Amino acid sequence: MAYSLWNDQIVEEGSITISPEDRGYQFGDGIYEVIKVYNGHMFTAQEHIDRFYASAEKIRLVIPYTKDVLHKLLHDLIEKNNLKTGHVYFQITRGATSRNHIFPDASVPAILTGNVKTGERSIENFEKGVKATLVEDVRWLRCDIKSLNLLGAVLAKQEASEKGCYEAILHRGDIITECSSANVYGIKDGKLYTHPANNYILNGITRQVILKCAAEINLPVIEEPMTKGDLLAMDEIIVSSVSSEVTPVIDVDGQQIGAGVPGEWTRKLQKAFEAKLPISINA
Ligand code: PDD
Repeated sequence: MAYSLWNDQIVEEGSITISPEDRGYQFGDGIYEVIKVYNGHMFTAQEHIDRFYASAEKIRLVIPYTKDVLHKLLHDLIEKNNLKTGHVYFQITRGATSRNHIFPDASVPAILTGNVKTGERSIENFEKGVKATLVEDVRWLRCDIKSLNLLGAVLAKQEASEKGCYEAILHRGDIITECSSANVYGIKDGKLYTHPANNYILNGITRQVILKCAAEINLPVIEEPMTKGDLLAMDEIIVSSVSSEVTPVIDVDGQQIGAGVPGEWTRKLQKAFEAKLPISINA
């Protein structure tokens, strides 16, 4: 039996009914998070919860629970589902009410839902690397908010998938921003390049861990926008997210990156990243 989060309750998945007037359903008026679970332990849970509250504040949505209550609910959801390795997804919308773009009255309660998914780590991708394609970034200008509105990302990822690629690397004009559901980095002459954490990208929690790993292995980080030409000339490219961890990109639109195999800095970053994971802890 699978269990879901329904506001501050853990309930049987099948017992939940979403109103057709839910603002998340009609407008994408809400925000979400995904936290990776290793051996039953959430990784960087507090950072994800903090970002959830920050996203909510940016769209003026009031979460009716404290961070500690939410943390406990997610923990209970994982335990109740007996999840070992996978992720927990949760979202909150501005509630259900008669359709109107204007915010509903404060008496309309926000709706929090969540569920878990089992899934092993993509070891083969980490080892061998993946292909990517360049796609124009047509998303809105508040990509720092983890909004439920994902059409731009969905269309880009679909295009990548149809081209046999793992990810779409997005660019606004000539400037590389991030991927459809990950951050992107280039490594050249012993330096790591990535877009600054502003409104054009989501500041990935994995990105923040990777920047710490880079410091640990003495890999200088340059948070400056790259052009498409800069990216294609990198010695190594990686993409990161909760599920991608540190995934090497070895080919962009048929062009080989570096030696066409995951590079040395990528391997060092993967090692430093893996050392932080709760994968040797028994649940
Ligand atoms: N996506 N950029 C975008 C646009 C993303 O959607 C994501 C994550 C990231 C990486 O963030 P993090 O390291 O916190 O996972 C960057 C999630 C996993 C998703 O939508 O499923």
